[in-house]
Amino acid sequence: MYFKTLNLILALISVENVSACNRPYSAWMADSVISRDQATVPEGSSPSPSTYLQVGFFQSAILRLIDHYGTPESVCAQSNWEDYLNASTNSIAPYLLNTTQDTSYPLDRLSTGNGLLHQYDAFKTTTALEGLKSLRKSINIQPKNSLGGYWYYKYPNWSYLDGMYSLVPFLLSYTSRFDPSNSSVTDDVIHQLDLLWDHCHQNSSNLLVHGYDASKTAVWANSITGASPIVWDRSLGWYLMTLVDSLEISSAFPARLSKYLQRRLTQLSEAVISAADPKTGCWWQVMTYPERKGNYIESSGSAMFVTALLRAARLGYLTGENASDARATATKCYNHLVETFVVKNANGTLGYNGTVSVCSLDSSASYDYYVSQPLLYNSVHGTAAFVQASIEQEMLNDSTAN
Ligand SMILES: *[C@@H]1O[C@H](CO)[C@@H](O)[C@H](O)[C@H]1NC(C)=O
Ligand SMILES: *[C@@H]1O[C@H](CO)[C@@H](O)[C@H](O)[C@H]1NC(C)=O
Ligand SMILES: *[C@@H]1O[C@H](CO)[C@@H](O)[C@H](O)[C@H]1NC(C)=O
Ligand SMILES: *[C@@H]1O[C@H](CO)[C@@H](O)[C@H](O)[C@H]1NC(C)=O
Ligand SMILES: *[C@@H]1O[C@H](CO)[C@@H](O)[C@H](O)[C@H]1NC(C)=O
Ligand SMILES: *[C@@H]1O[C@H](CO)[C@@H](O)[C@H](O)[C@H]1NC(C)=O
Ligand SMILES: *[C@@H]1O[C@H](CO)[C@@H](O)[C@H](O)[C@H]1NC(C)=O
Ligand SMILES: *[C@@H]1O[C@H](CO)[C@@H](O)[C@H](O)[C@H]1NC(C)=O
Ligand SMILES: *[C@@H]1O[C@H](CO)[C@@H](O)[C@H](O)[C@H]1NC(C)=O
Repeated sequence: MYFKTLNLILALISVENVSACNRPYSAWMADSVISRDQATVPEGSSPSPSTYLQVGFFQSAILRLIDHYGTPESVCAQSNWEDYLNASTNSIAPYLLNTTQDTSYPLDRLSTGNGLLHQYDAFKTTTALEGLKSLRKSINIQPKNSLGGYWYYKYPNWSYLDGMYSLVPFLLSYTSRFDPSNSSVTDDVIHQLDLLWDHCHQNSSNLLVHGYDASKTAVWANSITGASPIVWDRSLGWYLMTLVDSLEISSAFPARLSKYLQRRLTQLSEAVISAADPKTGCWWQVMTYPERKGNYIESSGSAMFVTALLRAARLGYLTGENASDARATATKCYNHLVETFVVKNANGTLGYNGTVSVCSLDSSASYDYYVSQPLLYNSVHGTAAFVQASIEQEMLNDSTAN
């Protein structure tokens, strides 16, 4: 009798858990990344050049979860988001405090600014504030090419689309928060984005290639523009997300900034939607050679496009048919990502497959190079992008539910 009652109570509890606790993919994937101890600097080790972006990008995903859902409990998440943010910020902040040292890392380092700012707001920690100031100063001594474009990393005169995702939103949020009198920032931001647009724009597809070498000496550099030859989905994903995320925080700046961002976003979204694979709705690793031997649908860049397109439509930056096209393409791709790349593990965690490791211009930058880089399981570039895409898809679902 006792056991029967206990079983009944347990059954009721689990039924109630199931009905009250419908953990969406966004929170579920975030839990899984945190349970794998990813997106922090492990104790006793120092960050590799690629760690900064993994930490910063995943922190942005967590901040979006907090913005939309408030608390983990509200979506039955099993990890404590604020604890994760604090711990990951504490793990990376000590490596950001030397401004000269900062410039030896890729521009990606600036993505950690969101976590620092969040911690500073919550706890007023001096390390967070010092980290923010050091990162900001490091932009002023970042090497530039002859046109004034920031180098992405240690390669002389090369600028990559990728760097904009970390640079621009950081520069804007830092300036509006701590340095509103610096009126050069608006034009600097437009200049950086526009140099990349001008040099990397591919007339045949209206997409942007990965980067350019202002000195035109790289083996891959176009003799007129210095552009690299290949449109890589993830680097363009960073750039499209940059336009949307920057527009979202552009209101404190002169209107020419939001006008510029809006114009580029509308143009680029149209080209990105046209490049979507008709079968899956998603995007190829090398975007302009669908179905070519070796090419494949890539899961991080695709999730970034889903995120950017849905967010742009939600915030009204895409309107009318442009918004409905964006939603239709992104939703189709999102479903494909869930069916194809999301892995449900026996221990209740989610995995994410099909994310290309890294593509660098310190290479031949040829088609064969881009399609032969290894694919990773559970790369944070993929999982953090999937969390962000899921939040947007869940918001869209909620808004159309009734
Ligand atoms: C967050 O980290 C800061 C800096 O180490 C610390 O002072 C604060 O107590 C931490 N807060 C929580 C809730 O862990
Ligand atoms: C900051 O980094 C630079 C370059 O790595 C190094 O030369 C310098 O000694 C460091 N400064 C401090 C105070 O550690
Ligand atoms: C980078 O550009 C500068 C200025 O145009 C030039 O002096 C330098 O030689 C370039 N470096 C390389 C490696 O091409
Ligand atoms: C203001 O911003 C511009 C553009 O980023 C930068 O070149 C300049 O050094 C900044 N001024 C200060 C005082 O930080
Ligand atoms: C692309 O089109 C622009 C504007 O029509 C033109 O100025 C530029 O030379 C073209 N670029 C290439 C690489 O053909
Ligand atoms: C839709 O996008 C195109 C460019 O792709 C633009 O010319 C048009 O103005 C946009 N429509 C609206 C309603 O914004
Ligand atoms: C759950 O299982 C997956 C797949 O075997 C593994 O990669 C992951 O580390 C496990 N997570 C935990 C917290 O044990
Ligand atoms: C990830 O995808 C590759 C290639 O399709 C496959 O071989 C591998 O088993 C997948 N990994 C998981 C954990 O599903
Ligand atoms: C959106 O709603 C559809 C229909 O109810 C459901 O199948 C899908 O899983 C939902 N997607 C998300 C991201 O919640």
